[in-house]
Amino acid sequence: MIQKGLKGIVAAETLISHIDGDNGKLFYRGYEIREITKRFSFEEAAYLLWYGNFPDAEQLSALKDELKCNRDLPEYVKVIIDQLPPGMDLMSVIRTAISAESGNSNYGWKPSVSQAIRLTALVPTIIAYRKRQLAGKKFVPHWNDLDHVENYLYMLSGRMPNAAHVEALETYIILTLEHGMNASTFSARVTASTESDIVSAITSAIGTMKGPLHGGAPSGVIELLNEIALVGDAEKVLRDKVTNGEKLMGFGHRVYKTHDPRAISLKAKLMELVGEDEWLDLAMDVESTAVKVLEELKPGRALYTNVEFYAAAIMKAINMDAELFTPTFTASRIVGWTAHVLEQAENNTIYRPQAKYNGSFK
Ligand code: ACO
Repeated sequence: MIQKGLKGIVAAETLISHIDGDNGKLFYRGYEIREITKRFSFEEAAYLLWYGNFPDAEQLSALKDELKCNRDLPEYVKVIIDQLPPGMDLMSVIRTAISAESGNSNYGWKPSVSQAIRLTALVPTIIAYRKRQLAGKKFVPHWNDLDHVENYLYMLSGRMPNAAHVEALETYIILTLEHGMNASTFSARVTASTESDIVSAITSAIGTMKGPLHGGAPSGVIELLNEIALVGDAEKVLRDKVTNGEKLMGFGHRVYKTHDPRAISLKAKLMELVGEDEWLDLAMDVESTAVKVLEELKPGRALYTNVEFYAAAIMKAINMDAELFTPTFTASRIVGWTAHVLEQAENNTIYRPQAKYNGSFK
């Protein structure tokens, strides 16, 4: 019996997170995600995922310092990025730059938390470096006084970011740090299971994240909302798409058979952030119309908004370009990937499923 897409197959035991798909709940190390976003920072949530507990003041300060010390790109990585063709998409640039990072240090087996912290610190710098380079703008070095999320926005714009925008982005980032055995995390674990290094595992994960059915969905959500804004008839656009066999970007989830708790938290943050807003009204209208259309045309499939739907809306509200959506998701999820690589290394067995041969014998 084959489970296409390994649907429902349990491939590992983990202590990192738990998804209760029937009740729409997500826990990091036993703590419910909504509580984490209310009470803790990016650094505290990342510490929890890497170490298994929240940091005390000294541990938090040490983690912040370590992240700051690792933000600068090696010169040779900058040279590699400079030489990549301008048309190369940002996810491929991040994948290439992270892959090149393995030339700098000794990333042998086994992986360590310091390596996880270094890779996590580098991703926002890679994104900002490339984005400003393509725009013909001077690179903005990191600001040591700023924490991880604030510094990311600062390096992108070169200006001190708006506090509400930092808060909104930090909420999004905390909500998307980790999500069980999703496709990119599985990729990272498969690569790590061969006793390959953490840089290779993260390079695999970035390549997997890039696909439109996984991390590439937010740009598709913006396209969908733009199309509906243009046509002006949400129900017709959505109905036509589903009837033609298209998937509505930002809807459906492999594990959640009810509302995605991350989408609910992001929607609440968005309402708090922007209040009355044309774009938010459109997003909420599309959500309710799509759920109705999907209930009618795809009965019993329990299709609701996933995290990507309101991620797209929140990114738009903080004026982040669409091409930064999936890279920003990557800057977040690298924490979960590295936590899983560390866990895989603790009790490793190489992943090696089988395929059923359906060809003929000659
Ligand atoms: N729009 C319309 N129909 C859908 C959608 C959707 N977004 N999602 C699922 N369906 C339908 C399928 O057509 C299928 O119908 P059928 O039974 O008539 O064949 C049924 O629901 C089951 O769909 P599957 O694709 O088998 O569900 P699966 O669990 O494999 O896929 C996935 C989950 C990939 C997220 C899917 O819902 C999808 O492609 N959504 C759109 C892309 C998206 O938003 N991705 C982001 C996911 S969140 C993340 O990765 C961080």
